[in-house]
Amino acid sequence: MTSKQKTILVTGGAGFLGSHLCQRLLNEGNAVICLDNFFTGSKDNLVTFSDHPSFKLIEHDVCQSIDLQMDQIYNLACPASPIHYQYDPVKTIKTNVHGAINMLELAQKKGARVLQASTSEVYGDPHVHPQKEEYWGNVNPIGIRSCYDEGKRCAETLFFDFHRQFKLPIKVARIFNTYGPRMHPNDGRVVSNFIVQALKNEPITIYGEGTQTRSFCYYEDLIEGLIRLMNSSEEMRGPVNLGNPNEFTIRQLAELVLELTGSRSELVFHPLPGDDPKQRKPDIGLAVKELGWKPQTQLRDGLLATIQYFDKLLCSLPG
Ligand SMILES: NC(=O)c1ccc[n+]([C@@H]2O[C@H](COP(=O)([O-])OP(=O)(O)OC[C@H]3O[C@@H](n4cnc5c(N)ncnc54)[C@H](O)[C@@H]3O)[C@@H](O)[C@H]2O)c1
Repeated sequence: MTSKQKTILVTGGAGFLGSHLCQRLLNEGNAVICLDNFFTGSKDNLVTFSDHPSFKLIEHDVCQSIDLQMDQIYNLACPASPIHYQYDPVKTIKTNVHGAINMLELAQKKGARVLQASTSEVYGDPHVHPQKEEYWGNVNPIGIRSCYDEGKRCAETLFFDFHRQFKLPIKVARIFNTYGPRMHPNDGRVVSNFIVQALKNEPITIYGEGTQTRSFCYYEDLIEGLIRLMNSSEEMRGPVNLGNPNEFTIRQLAELVLELTGSRSELVFHPLPGDDPKQRKPDIGLAVKELGWKPQTQLRDGLLATIQYFDKLLCSLPG
């Protein structure tokens, strides 16, 4: 190993974002340890680099402590889609809270930097638009999304308390909607949902009237932001928003997916689920200023690559 190489632990490394992060860190010459319990992740996400001599896979649950040697930890372990995080809400909170404590204690023991993959969900249904990092959010503490939203908020608290109390070098990224190849086809997230429905020529399900807005960040841009944050000056702890500020209504997204897939699907409208935020758009001023980061990929280009991925995936599935 050269002096520039680091050993980097990625929890949730077999998931959508984690696997892309592992791949990018290996490409940059690091040794990567991927830790995952395969709740939503998959070995298929790792096939392009699982034989790499500097890659190690450990099947493990972040809720249990573990002893490993590393220079940096990216803590991504947590189901990210409502279908998956509501499947076992108590486990979701444990993953967020016990997982954060275990990774913070590990970082403390090994003198490592630790980055938390937090979320725009910490802003809840925001009263402030676009959302800046100073905004404290509008979150229901007892709703069906709370296991995720409040779990992530508590993890942020733990990160900042470990820093204040033990001077631990921490980084907190608030990730907004991110999409791309390796998303789970049945996870109910809007981009994967629309693409899969369109490719199957099935009705495209819109919740509410489709006037609620979202911003969509391509995974390559997001991974670049996470790596820049991890390697930024020690004072740059965050929290920092990482997302694409271009705002689209859900209906616009559906129409773009229809155009790019050439699908015959029709749009169907269902009632809004509880606590669904009406607007979500990051203010990325801090990331631009402190990390020199902003997303480069246009929605149309990112969607085309994602459609290609799902098209191939659906063709390979039985039936
Ligand atoms: N994709 C997004 O739009 C988005 C937005 C905001 C935040 N995030 C955060 O980024 C991280 C990665 O999200 P993703 O989209 O890749 O989701 P994902 O579900 O594809 O990946 C999560 C990974 O964590 C693993 N995992 C879950 N519970 C675990 C546990 N107890 N122990 C070990 N591994 C466990 C899963 O098996 C999976 O591989 C999550 O923490 C998520 O909250 C993602």
